[in-house]
Amino acid sequence: MKPNIDIEIITACIPDIYARFTDWFKSVLNASDGTLNLALSGGNTPKALFEYWTANHQDDIDWTRVRFFWSDERCVPPNDEQSNYRMTKEYLFDRLPVSEGQIFRIEGENEPFAEAKRYAEVLRRELKAQNEIPSFDIVMLGMGDDGHTASIFPHQIALWDSPEICVVGTHPQSGQQRVSLSGKTINAAKNIAFLVTGKSKAERVREIIETRGQAERRYPAAKAAAQSGNLLWFLDNDAAALLNP
Ligand code: 6PG
Repeated sequence: MKPNIDIEIITACIPDIYARFTDWFKSVLNASDGTLNLALSGGNTPKALFEYWTANHQDDIDWTRVRFFWSDERCVPPNDEQSNYRMTKEYLFDRLPVSEGQIFRIEGENEPFAEAKRYAEVLRRELKAQNEIPSFDIVMLGMGDDGHTASIFPHQIALWDSPEICVVGTHPQSGQQRVSLSGKTINAAKNIAFLVTGKSKAERVREIIETRGQAERRYPAAKAAAQSGNLLWFLDNDAAALLNP
């Protein structure tokens, strides 16, 4: 595991943290000469970023150059209120000039292990490989209060080291199955960008940023370390509140 010095920490109040994330996102897009392959995180945090994008960046970002994938998806139909795809459609795709051909959803309605294999084949077909592993330009991640990320939870932390491109995780409380990128696929990304907000995340953020060596034995989020070295944590002031200045 690389030392902490590889983590770039960006903190700001809300909504400034969305502006900082977007400025960085635009810099990555502008530095690429073609399309940008982006794996989106799920849950609630991205909603506010998507609202910020659709309110402020309809015209200055060429959204037709972005191809949308996911870091994980709940094993539910695409119109289910739990679906990350449905949330993204409502908050982003229905409000921006994005065509169906730019969207590569994880099909949560399928049998989970079959879908993990199918999505792995989609990634192999659509993405360039880094050491034979499909490599995203950006993997966007959130973090649960328990230190999970994507859909790899602490009680299944061994899934992070799976040899597979995609794995099937299980939510510890609800038992809901989810298809998720594995740790090696996440770490093969050119850029990993966490977006974490809220007081409830502050203690875990402190543990992961300041005691990384111990944290990576317990928390999947601590194991995210892009081989490229580009690991960024975008934190609002609440999530960053316990970090040493
Ligand atoms: C999901 C996510 C998950 C999420 C964290 C944080 O499908 O739920 O991919 O990893 O990023 O649970 O969720 P919130 O943004 O809702 O706090």
